[in-house]
Amino acid sequence: MRRLLIAGNWKMNLDRGRSLSLVQGLVESLRNTSNVDVAVCPPSVYLGELGKALHGSNIGLGAQNAYNQPEGAYTGEVSCGMLKDVGCQYVILGHSERRAIFGETDLMVNEKLHAVLAAGLTPIVCVGETLQEREAGKTQQVVESQCKGSLAGLSHEQMLKTVVAYEPVWAIGTGKTATPAQAEEVHKDIRELLGSLFSSETSQKVIILYGGSVKADNALELLSEPNIDGALVGGASLKQDSFLGIVQAASSVKK
Ligand code: PGA
Repeated sequence: MRRLLIAGNWKMNLDRGRSLSLVQGLVESLRNTSNVDVAVCPPSVYLGELGKALHGSNIGLGAQNAYNQPEGAYTGEVSCGMLKDVGCQYVILGHSERRAIFGETDLMVNEKLHAVLAAGLTPIVCVGETLQEREAGKTQQVVESQCKGSLAGLSHEQMLKTVVAYEPVWAIGTGKTATPAQAEEVHKDIRELLGSLFSSETSQKVIILYGGSVKADNALELLSEPNIDGALVGGASLKQDSFLGIVQAASSVKK
């Protein structure tokens, strides 16, 4: 049985005061939620303070990026050790915005992935096709090549500690969600690919999240699909009610 994970990707949103009150509200409201894993991934500048606010709660803390080196002359970057130091458990890697805006390649994602795992953090590796690629019938090819490149060189044990997030680029922040059938088809492909790269036993244990306009009112049908093990939530993670609605939907899913 895979435990569902709902992770909020705040991106570059919210200020210090609103971050803190959102986290405090979530801690209070999710006190008794035990059948779903929940995490928030705020901007890195707030991680330390929010890590303290989350201490002792059942909500995990995640970063939206990390660098692959432990320390040194890398102006503007943050190491995995530093993230761990302030209470992070998760790190999102290779989000489509990092790939498209900041030029991250599969190789860069892969280097970061190895650093994140070496630090004992849980990576959430994002993959997904653009609208043009989907319309050209290349979804499977693109997603498989991103998975192969981003996940290269992992041992079975490391793969088991890695979360994959399928996020079709055309569904991110657009209000256009993949239908549950469209998402499930790609999740199933990813699991089959992991089965061939690792083993079927390993692939059955890997958590594969869906991301792209997940909301409280579409979460249940997406999360009910057999190969969708949770959600990476952008816009709807910025408000307490909408994020809680998604966690509640996850908590009611029976598989
Ligand atoms: P969205 O973003 O939920 O706002 O579409 C998801 C993501 O980018 O992780």
